[in-house]
Formats: sequence, structure tokens, C-alpha cells
Amino acid sequence: MLTDKQTAAHAAMGEVDLEGLTCYFEGEYVPMAEARVSILTHAFLYGTAVFEGIRAYWNQEQGRLYGLFIREHVERLRHNCRLLLMEPIPSVDEIASIILETVRRNSFKEDAYIRPGYYKSTRTIGVRLHALDHEMYVVTIPFGDYIDTESGIRLMTSSWRRNADDAIPARGKIVGGYVNMAFQKSEAELNGFDEALVLTADGAASEASAANLFVVRDGVLVTPPVTDDILEGVTRKAMIGLARDEGIEVEVRTVDRSELYVADEIFLCGTGVQVSPVIEVDHRAVGAGEIGPIGRALRTRYFEAVRGRLPQYRHWLTPIAD
Ligand SMILES: Cc1ncc(COP(=O)(O)O)c(C=O)c1O
Repeated sequence: MLTDKQTAAHAAMGEVDLEGLTCYFEGEYVPMAEARVSILTHAFLYGTAVFEGIRAYWNQEQGRLYGLFIREHVERLRHNCRLLLMEPIPSVDEIASIILETVRRNSFKEDAYIRPGYYKSTRTIGVRLHALDHEMYVVTIPFGDYIDTESGIRLMTSSWRRNADDAIPARGKIVGGYVNMAFQKSEAELNGFDEALVLTADGAASEASAANLFVVRDGVLVTPPVTDDILEGVTRKAMIGLARDEGIEVEVRTVDRSELYVADEIFLCGTGVQVSPVIEVDHRAVGAGEIGPIGRALRTRYFEAVRGRLPQYRHWLTPIAD
């Protein structure tokens, strides 16, 4: 029995026999205990890999697990493989069916997290992207809340800037690039905050360490554009649609750091954080210092949608066969 209580995510998992879970590795479905890479694997040595984080939600009424935005995540994964010169890559349908089959084989009856990825698998020394083989993997584990989404979270502006597009593209979900996010998250947590607000090299608000940013100003929902070194979040895109469906005006534009100090509401969204209202930034209360009405309403709609209770958003969900 392996347990790991070091992260909130793992703590939420409780006691899970990780090694006994089925994963997809080098073209086969195997117990995690058998999925081993060499110490010389290029991705291990240089971070040359891309990944996705996907949630699956257990629908208690139907006794069924649903994968959220499977297709959208697979499309992003394929784009990101292109960034790292990984070709050929199977079609969206082929990758999606491997992901669904991996989850199915674990027979989860609770929420789960799915991590598919591609990595440079050649065992070699020498930093580069070209002339290397690549392999796909899928890992899936039972998963609860990554951070508490109900009480509102506290942000601090990180002193670590987001890696610029001409350094390591943030849109790429590149494993090595996540060291940048790790600096930010640890700085925030070690200083007693829940999350980091990350600025671009030019000082604009970009996103959080692993979540996209939304700000409410005078009833308008504002979010930074994809050109401000954000990950092009799948949840962000869905949230823009959800808000517009609710009749809320959405503006996609650059957000100044100081706008956060005068915002009426702020919330983060992403696969991990889901929808997390922010109540404080850099020791300044957001709005009235409590969860605001727009963030609360969108959060409620989002959770209803992912649990399969809103027919108009059923296309977000893919049933996982028994
Ligand atoms: C840096 C970063 N930004 C934003 C997000 C949110 O993206 P998504 O909604 O696709 O999960 C993530 C991942 O969760 C992330 O790692």
C-alpha cells in the first residue's frame, strides 16, 4: 500500500493502492507497478513531455462516471505534441478511446483525475527536441478537491514571472515549464496564501499557478487573452460560454495587476481548482471580502453541469462505460 500525503490532491485521495491501479504505458494496459521508465529517459532528464489534467465526475443518481471535456483536452494535447516536435500522433478519437479505456479498467465509483501525456522516450543524453522517439501514457487516480472551493481563497502576487511564450510557451503544458508554476505555488503556500497570482514579463496579470483568472468589474466578466502567456484553459473557454449563456457580458483583454485590487469579484477556474472564488489579493479584500454573486452563480452552474444535471451542457461529458 503506497500512500502520499504530501499534497492536497493526494490527501484528498486518501489511502489508495496506487501501484495496483491500471495505467496505459508503452502501448499496453498494465498495473502502475509495471510502468517504469529508465533514468536515462529524455523526458526525465530534460522535461521534454506534454500532459493534460482531466477530471471525471461520478454521477450518483445514474451510477455512472463521466469524463469532462475529453475531446477538448485531447485536441490540446495533440497541439502541444506539435510544439515539441512529436510526430506522428494518433487521431483525437484514438487517443480519447485509450483514455476512456484506461479509466474504465479501474472501475472507479467516485470522482477521478486522469493524466494523459506524451513524453520523449529515447534513452539518451543530449538536450534537443528533434530525432527522439515519443510514447503516450495515461494515469488515473481517485481524486477530490485540489483546493477548497467553498470558503474563498487568498492570493499573493508571485515574485516569479510567468515564462514568456518565447522562452517556454505556457500554452504548451510542457512538463519542464511547470517548474515555473512550482516556484509560484510554493512561494504562495510558504507565505501562507492559497494560490499565486502570476504576472507576465510585462507586468500584466496572466493567471494563477495552475488556473485561469476571471475578474468582475461593474458587472462585466474580464479574463486575460491567450496572448498574455496563459494556458489556453479548457475550463476558461467553457466558463466564457457559461457566463454568456447567463446573460453576463464577457470581455477578453489584458488585466492590470492593480485592477485586481479594485475588482468587485475575482475567481479562478481550471480542471484542478474547478471554480474557486478569491476573497483576498495581496492583503486587500476583494469586493466585500466574501464570495460575490457572479462567482457564486457561475460556480453553482458549473458544478451542476459537470454532475450531468443540466441537459444543455451534456456535451461537456463523455460517459465511461462500465
Ligand atoms: C498553468 C495553468 N493554467 C490554467 C489551467 C487551467 O486549464 P484547464 O481548464 O484546461 O484545466 C491549468 C491546468 O489546470 C494550468 O496548469
